Amino acid sequence: MTRGKGFDVKELRLARAGRDRIEWAKKEMPVLRSIGERFAKKKPLKGLRISACLHVTTETAALMQVLAAGGAKVTLCASNPLSTQDDAAAALVKNDGISVYAIKGENRKTYYGHILQALSVKPHVTMDDGADLVSVIHTKRREVLKGVVGGTEETTTGVIRLRAMAKKGVLRYPIVAVNEAKTKHFFDNRYGTGQSTLDGILRATNRLLAGSCFVVAGYGWCGRGLAMRARGMGARVLVTEVDPLPALEAIMDGFEVASMSEAAAKGDIFCTLTGNIHVLRGEHFRKMKDGAIVCNAGHFNVEIDIPALAKLARSVRTVRPFVEEYRMRNGRAIHLLAEGRLINLSSAEGHPSTVMDMSFANQALGVEFLIKKKETLDNVVYPIPDAIDREIARLKLAGIGAKIDTLTPEQKKYLASWEMGT
Ligand code: ADE
Repeated sequence: MTRGKGFDVKELRLARAGRDRIEWAKKEMPVLRSIGERFAKKKPLKGLRISACLHVTTETAALMQVLAAGGAKVTLCASNPLSTQDDAAAALVKNDGISVYAIKGENRKTYYGHILQALSVKPHVTMDDGADLVSVIHTKRREVLKGVVGGTEETTTGVIRLRAMAKKGVLRYPIVAVNEAKTKHFFDNRYGTGQSTLDGILRATNRLLAGSCFVVAGYGWCGRGLAMRARGMGARVLVTEVDPLPALEAIMDGFEVASMSEAAAKGDIFCTLTGNIHVLRGEHFRKMKDGAIVCNAGHFNVEIDIPALAKLARSVRTVRPFVEEYRMRNGRAIHLLAEGRLINLSSAEGHPSTVMDMSFANQALGVEFLIKKKETLDNVVYPIPDAIDREIARLKLAGIGAKIDTLTPEQKKYLASWEMGT
């Protein structure tokens, strides 16, 4: 552990490796790059203190550099105890002079200690992935509230928590919901989670997916991405849902839909992506096959009822990194990956930078929007404005080098008319 003034990271010696990996990630981040160039010239965030609680990855490092280029003083802590890339954390401290409080595998006490450190700078803006900063400010650090102009939120789970706060009238500053941008959830949640979750499962287990029965719990954007990619690798995919509409979509997308109690007896690999609690619980563990693998890609480690699993087990041992074998009283083994934490960020590297480019462009422009509009915003959750969303899509297409058509004057007129028929 290397602790100093303004940081607590695993090892500063990792900075060199971190810098190289950050540079690698940035090659696929043209949108963030162009925002960074503008920020460096115009300094729209001059004098702003931003505290960010995000997964500390190479992509997050690229975002921190852009915010700092815009004139902000940035402090970063982890949004999950297992997702930190220690080399990226070290590089930010050593090469960019950014305050980072994050160590992969930190315990609960250190995790919350780091959140308090990030809040000790009295931020004007909070940037969350899961709403932990907002939650701690509103419960344990209310004195910080008066200086906060607003916050941004990265993920579905966080937005749900924040909307609940706004509905109860307890939210004390405006939030921009990055997750609601189309350039975020269409790509990050679907293609990012789809690929990185499989990557995490495969790195942890090295199991063959072809011919396996793969159970995807939840058919939101993340679930769809995972189901699509697992099928692509030859798995037979079973989807479980509580909402009839996405369940129907899953069927029409060609997947089998079942209740979890049916799926439990059939699955070889289970992955939860619902944002809800105890989606896999005792009644399901009892039915699972010997050797079943269970993991989670939802934000919090509550989707698998681990205490219930432990209660059913007569022994627990680590059989590989990120794989714990729970030997059940019925003699069967159930393998839990990454302590039920986000598998894609625990045993793999999270979403590839190509999609994080758009997610984090929304974060950067979300902060700019907040400070420009601060006088006019209420203490509620705002979607990213459509104009920002479209601008990010436009920049991404330009970065990819893809051209699209523009409407002809005749087409514009046609779309604006109602008189013209067959
Ligand atoms: N969430 C999912 N993937 C991520 C990544 N690569 N960086 C930061 N947050 C993420």
